[in-house]
Amino acid sequence: MSTPSATAEQTTNDAEEAILARIHAGELIEDMDDLTPRYRAILERTLEIAAQSEVTVLTWAYTAFRVAPDIGAKVAICGTIQDEVGHAHQQGMLFERFGFDMQKVAFEADPRKYWSLPIMEFPVRNYAEFVVSQAFLDRAGRFTTWDIELNCSFAPYRRTLKKVNFEEAYHFRHGSMWTEYYLKQTAETRKLVEDAVRWIFPWGYHWYGRPDDLKGYPDQLNYKVRAWSNDTMRNKWLRSATDFADRVGLDVPAEKDPSTGEYRITDMPYPMTFDAEKHDWEWQETTWDRAIGNFKSGGPMRPACYERLQREEWGDRLW
Ligand SMILES: [Fe+2]
Ligand SMILES: [Fe+2]
Repeated sequence: MSTPSATAEQTTNDAEEAILARIHAGELIEDMDDLTPRYRAILERTLEIAAQSEVTVLTWAYTAFRVAPDIGAKVAICGTIQDEVGHAHQQGMLFERFGFDMQKVAFEADPRKYWSLPIMEFPVRNYAEFVVSQAFLDRAGRFTTWDIELNCSFAPYRRTLKKVNFEEAYHFRHGSMWTEYYLKQTAETRKLVEDAVRWIFPWGYHWYGRPDDLKGYPDQLNYKVRAWSNDTMRNKWLRSATDFADRVGLDVPAEKDPSTGEYRITDMPYPMTFDAEKHDWEWQETTWDRAIGNFKSGGPMRPACYERLQREEWGDRLW
């Protein structure tokens, strides 16, 4: 005879097996009441990270506003900030259906504990750096949200990302257009673009975290919250970013192998750590544990940029 807790565990396992069978049969889950504890936890974690990392773009993009060369560029940056607030808002509204308070997650979290990528904590030094970041990093971010729109087993999450992805595509196309413009404008702007690419390109390649063979948790893929693994997304980005660079005549540390059609990095240690004070990469290969530790330490604006989010009315009364 089984104990009550063993019976409860069996019921839970049966429920997980049943939802997995529906998901693997290609069914889209529509009803919140159908979510099992494990499936629900993965969705919550994915949404929390996604919504919070959207707000980390706000203070970063604001540093670009100060260095924008003209009113058109300033308007473009304001548009980006508005869009990113919207991305946090749309994913935040979905997150609230899980019983969380998005205002707290976005604007009242411990400033030292924001989930972010350190590049969002480095001030933008010139406008070329901003458009290069859009060209390469909005392109990187969009693969993560596009995967969910196309493949997520939880249907409401797919719908939430439709407009988000439309805007992310707009951001990286805007950045690509102006990257090409500054690359070809004068020798001086060309140098600004090249320096920015040297700094930004590795952030795109490091965007997706550990390679698949070093990653522990397959649950996101198992429950089809996403379908593309880290390696898959990184390869998609590398192909897209390298094709763009080749098309406009921009040097990046990557190439397409003409015989196999595969893309690979060249002259770029991977993974590597950055030096927050020097505002540069170390340009030396390291271990993933060291790289992840370095990324968690964040950039020079952390935690001040998140304290600022909380002091000012970026999102006050938004939710
Ligand atoms: Fe976004
Ligand atoms: Fe964006």
